[in-house]
Amino acid sequence: MPPNLKPKPTDFMPTNPRSATIRPARAGDAAAIEALIVPFVKAGTLLPRTAAEIRDLIPTSFVAESDGKIVGFTALEIYSAKLAEIRSLAVTEEQQRLGLGSQLVDACVEVAGKRNILEVMVITSSEEFFRGCGFNFTLPGEKKALFIQPAASTARASATEGSPS
Ligand SMILES: CC(C)(COP(=O)(O)OP(=O)(O)OC[C@H]1O[C@@H](n2cnc3c(N)ncnc32)[C@H](O)[C@@H]1OP(=O)(O)O)[C@@H](O)C(=O)NCCC(=O)NCCS
Repeated sequence: MPPNLKPKPTDFMPTNPRSATIRPARAGDAAAIEALIVPFVKAGTLLPRTAAEIRDLIPTSFVAESDGKIVGFTALEIYSAKLAEIRSLAVTEEQQRLGLGSQLVDACVEVAGKRNILEVMVITSSEEFFRGCGFNFTLPGEKKALFIQPAASTARASATEGSPS
């Protein structure tokens, strides 16, 4: 067999050892997605999502499916032609550390790339995981993303209003 046609060991490797697959989410997945994220919302790692919010995000969402069961989810929320955010990323505990989380993120980043979106952001406590997916705090040209919460800022302003200068 010519060396260039020789199968590589990776040709036979499934996406992950338990053969979960990543695919675009469908309208019919909404209830399973809602159920998937509940434990993470209860644990405080994800923000709650209404059924309507999930439905709206489905066209730019991906699921991980194993044996017909949804075991992972994430959504790309597109804010503008320039900016999108990775939202509600979750993989069931039994299926974690098999590469599904990073495949879900990669799928969203690919969608963003195809739409020429300049930046994809994430707000997370899983910093190490997202660094492994290529995310960083700085952008080319030493630019950084900085945040302010308007509610906190308003409270700060009214606290200083009456204080002596
Ligand atoms: C974060 C999360 C989605 C990762 O999913 P996953 O399927 O386990 O991730 P992967 O298997 O693709 O991991 C990719 C890499 O990140 C590492 N990693 C995964 N979770 C990690 C964590 N919590 N801390 C540090 N590293 C982590 C893995 O070891 C792996 O590294 P490797 O390729 O060198 O082995 C999953 O832990 C989860 O659902 N967490 C709870 C919800 C959450 O925090 N979501 C993010 C909020 S936006």
